[in-house]
Amino acid sequence: MSTSAEGNAPAWQAEIAALQATLAAAIAAADDAAALRQIEVDALGKKGSVTALMKRVGALPPDERRAYGAAAGQARGAVSAALAARSDALAQARLQAELDDRSFDETLVGSSTRRGAVHPLSLVRRDIEDVFSSMGFHVLDYPEVDSEFSNFEALNIPSWHPARDMQDTFWLDAGHLLRTHTSAGQVRTMHRLGGEPFRAIFPGRVFRYESTDASHEHTFHQVEGLMIDRAPAAGGPGVSVGHLLDAMRTLLSAIFGEAVQVRLRPGYFPFVEPGFELDIACRNCGGAGCSVCKQSGWLELLPCGLVHPNVLRMGGLDPDQWQGWAFGLGLSRLVMMRYGIGDIRLMLSGDARFCEPFVAGC
Ligand code: PHE
Repeated sequence: MSTSAEGNAPAWQAEIAALQATLAAAIAAADDAAALRQIEVDALGKKGSVTALMKRVGALPPDERRAYGAAAGQARGAVSAALAARSDALAQARLQAELDDRSFDETLVGSSTRRGAVHPLSLVRRDIEDVFSSMGFHVLDYPEVDSEFSNFEALNIPSWHPARDMQDTFWLDAGHLLRTHTSAGQVRTMHRLGGEPFRAIFPGRVFRYESTDASHEHTFHQVEGLMIDRAPAAGGPGVSVGHLLDAMRTLLSAIFGEAVQVRLRPGYFPFVEPGFELDIACRNCGGAGCSVCKQSGWLELLPCGLVHPNVLRMGGLDPDQWQGWAFGLGLSRLVMMRYGIGDIRLMLSGDARFCEPFVAGC
């Protein structure tokens, strides 16, 4: 039944060779990726001409099938290889064309990615956390929306107290407010850690409903410090103003990397007794007077004092048994001092250029 006699090549051999030659010519003539893809589909796709060859093997006499399968498979391989080679050649040609294009200048500087920076508030906060952690302080975090109780009442500032006017408040509904100071965390901390002596700092954002200028901002940062120990009457070491000042000096010299000129004034805060204002010489102007220090040469940086007995009581601690000191560091002011920033409003301006000098801090 076969038309091919011994020694004569079967007809399909020429047919396969012809198809392969046609495809090779088409591939060589294809001059873009789309044309190449079309040839690939027409030849190797489901209904492609080469695929059709493969399917025909069953129609041949059994003794020719093996040779036919091998020839068809070889054709398929050759076509795929030719497609891949042509595709590479086209890509190479495209690249060369781009390089030859005189409007392409490989010596031009590319667009660079800008490196991020750490905000100076974060840099200084981290330093402070390091100093205090090394002295055995917990670093705690409290909500910015707090209760009237935590922010005022627990701190010995009942609603009729004139001290409420010292801190103009953003009131929310139902006895809630934006905390006006990190002192709002004091009594929470006593409830959390009390019963044993403890030391803790709690840095955070605070809010005051007031008009802004170079040294006032409605949103700024503080770091509260609180240390509680047993009173001598309860067999403890007690907590004195001397301890407080020593801790404050350690803090300031660690932050500025050198001894800092300070002055202590009596200060009134209902939650400390005695209370102090610790001022440092303005480093923006060197004490000569500028807009940051309101021409006084000094900056209020560190209000502090011994914890008032009423506050200890609110924290569940018996004032006969326990004593403590507290401070409320003006973190924003400290950052301004350390880096010579002349206007507090720059700090939360959201202007990325403000952080650029601090890139090295990452
Ligand atoms: N909370 C006070 C303020 O923001 C500062 C302060 C804290 C004073 C702790 C004494 C002790 O003004």
